[in-house]
Amino acid sequence: MQNEPDLKSAYALETPDDSRKLYAAWAKTYDEGFVQQSGYILHEHVVRQFTIMGGFGPVLDIGAGTGLCGEALRARGIEPVDGTDISAEMLAIACEKNIYRNLFTGDVVKGLEVNEDTYQGAVSAGTFTMGHVGPNGIDTILHAVRPNGWIVFSVNAKHYQTAGFSTKMTDLVTSISDFSTVEVPIYAPDATQAHAKDTALILAFRKS
Ligand SMILES: C[S@@+](CC[C@H](N)C(=O)[O-])C[C@H]1O[C@@H](n2cnc3c(N)ncnc32)[C@H](O)[C@@H]1O
Repeated sequence: MQNEPDLKSAYALETPDDSRKLYAAWAKTYDEGFVQQSGYILHEHVVRQFTIMGGFGPVLDIGAGTGLCGEALRARGIEPVDGTDISAEMLAIACEKNIYRNLFTGDVVKGLEVNEDTYQGAVSAGTFTMGHVGPNGIDTILHAVRPNGWIVFSVNAKHYQTAGFSTKMTDLVTSISDFSTVEVPIYAPDATQAHAKDTALILAFRKS
């Protein structure tokens, strides 16, 4: 793995251990070096959609990272918000912002130490993407959320096509309702970096 974390190294991850190492190295510079410089706005789209759907707390932010979704939720008056991530170093940055009620490490692919039906809603931005989390992570989210609760998360558009999300959503037809998708830009219109025009699908649905 190269020393300077960037999108190229993030998309090339293969294992949860790769993620832990990359994000441990990226945590301190993620907000200023990546979010601000790249024009990353995906968390705003996810939280906006959660709000439009009428989602409310308590909310679990999955792959919370440095806390961007939590910040956007709290700015809209949605709380309490808990956050989980595979990287303790990313969560340490989120913790400094005093946004979250609880923060805990965990691997969404393996399953989280969360009782069934704990949360009224769940959000996730930027975590269901290449080299990170595939469609099986959705089962963990469904476990954590109460019946009728809203689940809203982004999936990188290329990842959606190649990682089997479409099949997964078809398989979930009896477990969810009110399923919708909308395609959004991951970066602001004036972004110029190599991935500036990449898009994501925002998946929104309720647990049945
Ligand atoms: C691109 S960052 C997004 C962080 C934040 N949600 C945002 O929008 O800025 C992806 C996050 O997913 C986390 N992640 C990667 N694989 C994971 C897994 N298997 N379980 C939980 N979190 C994971 C990483 O540690 C990282 O914080």
